Amino acid sequence: MYTVPQLADFSGPSLDAAVRDLLAALESEATAVVGETDWRAFRDRWMARKNGILSQVNDLWLKAAPGPQKRDVGQRVNQLNKSVEEAVESAKGRASGSSSSLASEKLDVTLPGIRRPLGVEHPTIRTMNTIVRVFQRMGYSVGEGPEIETDYYNFESLNFPPNHPARDTQDTIFIAGQERKAQRDRLLLRTHTSPVQIHTMERQPPPVRIVIPGKVYRHDTPDATHSPVFHQVEGLVVDTGITFCDLKGTLDHAMKALFGASMKTRFFPSFFPFTEPSADVAVTCFKCGGSGCRLCKQSGWIELLGAGMVDPNVYQFVRKNGYDPAKVSGFAFGMGVERIAMAMYGIDDIQLLYSGDVRFLEQFA
Ligand code: PHE
Repeated sequence: MYTVPQLADFSGPSLDAAVRDLLAALESEATAVVGETDWRAFRDRWMARKNGILSQVNDLWLKAAPGPQKRDVGQRVNQLNKSVEEAVESAKGRASGSSSSLASEKLDVTLPGIRRPLGVEHPTIRTMNTIVRVFQRMGYSVGEGPEIETDYYNFESLNFPPNHPARDTQDTIFIAGQERKAQRDRLLLRTHTSPVQIHTMERQPPPVRIVIPGKVYRHDTPDATHSPVFHQVEGLVVDTGITFCDLKGTLDHAMKALFGASMKTRFFPSFFPFTEPSADVAVTCFKCGGSGCRLCKQSGWIELLGAGMVDPNVYQFVRKNGYDPAKVSGFAFGMGVERIAMAMYGIDDIQLLYSGDVRFLEQFA
């Protein structure tokens, strides 16, 4: 470690040698500075008023110089002051921030750029859009409705009379604190997209051809096939002379468009308050192709949707908008989007669709 020597001799060559030694020490100490703390120590060692190297130089060299040499020594000491100030200043530039910020300031122009991956449609939304497009190609329009509904739209106008047991088939999530309202005005989370059938018929007179994608809610405990929030695509057609044949042909075409031309459909009797007759529609089992397996419980068929001819009682609620049950007829259907997505992509647990696990979702990118 450099220390300021006392000078026995103030001749030119002896001063030159002393200055050379000091500058060499300054340079090597300056290059060793890497961080803020280093730099402070470096600055103080050289520039501190009390006992810094420069003040020692002042005492030991300049003050000690005999009269005739003072001028010469003074010039060199001035020069040294400047050199030290510069060295401290430039070391500060390099040391500002921490030593790690120094490293991060280095720019490696050969590194690849940062990729921002584009997101894709979630498999549920993608399936919903695929279904909607199939019907758009058949000339259907697309509509939506509110997720918070009144009892009237979710039940009453769909021919579920107040307190009728058919309401129990849809485990409903009711909004609290509605008791003071008339029953028809009480709010709930819609259990199906069918209330949008009524909104649509209130908004437009026949003819109607519409599909309605949306989110629905049921008081179900989550498991591999149930979720309290899921999606449906509803369909409604009302015109003159619409028959069950139109319904069959439409859904058969739609299922073939979704799953392939070899897909068969089967209609069997069912019940919904707002359709008469009603049917559950099944398609050929995707897994076994119809020969029977665990997925289809050996039946060869997978139930995918509910459908039927619009019940004349439903038209009564929108009669004044041109829906005279003696003049118009129509059909409606509703399908669960997740069920179809699971069938399309071979997903065996509905919860995967809500988990947000990127390792799962990436497979659909
Ligand atoms: N809304 C019925 C359900 O959610 C499905 C359906 C829609 C049935 C339209 C018939 C007609 O179960």
